[in-house]
Amino acid sequence: MWGGRFAEGPSAVMREINASIPFDKRLWRQDIAGSQAHVAMLGKQGIVSSEDAQAISEGLDAVASDFEADGVPVDYALEDIHMVTENALSEKIGEAAGRLHTARSRNDQVATDFRLWTRDAIDEASAGLKALQTALLARAEEHADSVMPGFTHLQSAQPVTLGHHLMAYYEMFARDRARLADARARLNLCPLGAAALAGTGFPIDREATASALGFDGPTRNSLDSVSDRDFAIEYLTAAVQASLHLSRLAEEFVIWASQPFGFVSLSDQWSTGSSIMPQKRNPDAAELVRGHAGRIMGCMTSLMVSMKGLPLAYSKDMQDDKPPVFEAHDLLGLCIAAMTGMVESASFRTDRMRGLAESGFATATDLADWLVREAGVPFRQAHHITGRAVARAEADGVRLDQLPLEALREVDDRIDQRVYDVLSVDASVASRMSFGGTAPSRVREAIAAARKTLEEEDR
Ligand code: ARG
Repeated sequence: MWGGRFAEGPSAVMREINASIPFDKRLWRQDIAGSQAHVAMLGKQGIVSSEDAQAISEGLDAVASDFEADGVPVDYALEDIHMVTENALSEKIGEAAGRLHTARSRNDQVATDFRLWTRDAIDEASAGLKALQTALLARAEEHADSVMPGFTHLQSAQPVTLGHHLMAYYEMFARDRARLADARARLNLCPLGAAALAGTGFPIDREATASALGFDGPTRNSLDSVSDRDFAIEYLTAAVQASLHLSRLAEEFVIWASQPFGFVSLSDQWSTGSSIMPQKRNPDAAELVRGHAGRIMGCMTSLMVSMKGLPLAYSKDMQDDKPPVFEAHDLLGLCIAAMTGMVESASFRTDRMRGLAESGFATATDLADWLVREAGVPFRQAHHITGRAVARAEADGVRLDQLPLEALREVDDRIDQRVYDVLSVDASVASRMSFGGTAPSRVREAIAAARKTLEEEDR
């Protein structure tokens, strides 16, 4: 299609390195949609005759049905999805097909196709994350009162509820979705009509094509239009952050499913066996979610490094923008679906969680706070006294709330009977009523607010 000035064809390797059709065939729907918008505008502006515009439009519909039925033919000689589609069109309608490429270039064409594809990808990722948030909400509600050890340094720190812990992930995914929405808003301008790099002399209507394709308007600078891939990078950075959160949640499942923890039993659907050790029930899906986060990050790095040295405007390096975005999107979709399935089907072993929360002196802070509140002891001193009480309980092999009052009073005689009200894990959790705290009533409030937010999105 560009061979006019050449006497010889390209070498086989040239053809292969040049061809993007093996991967950009995935853009065929967007390519046809972009061409339909373009040709409708060309017809309306009188740049092509209305007969030709109609023939092209009908031809594109026919090509779309063929692609839908038989897939996109991969022909290295035709390079990419744009030329494969145009070639198929010319096989359908003959010479008129050659008028479609008036007032456009593959540079603005691919920029448009890829924006359309990425916009759908963002919507899909966001919908997937929303389903995961919904699953987290349901499990959090079920476990708003279930006590578990809260950790810092993976050491038992203070008791929290499982509902509160799950809601922490709800918040992370809410931020991820906000980042996706933000990227989508910036993406939603149409580069079509920038042509090769400088715009065109034909009297095109960029507002019309932009609005036909659901964009908010046309991009403002033709050079930037064909060389900008920020929208893809922004999707990847949002995908990376989401995958980091998915990976952290996956890591919790790996730890929780281990025998020493035993906080969760993964359902059969989300575990695998070992070929040699019959007792094994491995959290492979969670491990792969953790692993895939690394690959998604690699995709982001790949595109950023491709772009960082490119002068304006289009360079062929930019053809390599698509594989990492496609790969990251597919991996992210799998990770979201896997974590949603695991969250929905996990059996939480609340007996184990409570047992560990009770055994780790997790209410030590509550004793210190009691000394501050009830005996007027400065916190630093209360911390020290409590440390001695913990040492005493450890030496006697009992929990803090099992230490007899005489033992506690030997540590500090300002302690009295009322202290036992705060030493149980339930009392500890219930007392953490500060906004955003782990008290079950606060967790229920947070769940209700989150539900309302998600419901409002549907309106
Ligand atoms: N397949 C190309 C890509 O994805 C389309 C743009 C080709 N433009 C060009 N000037 N050779 O980037």
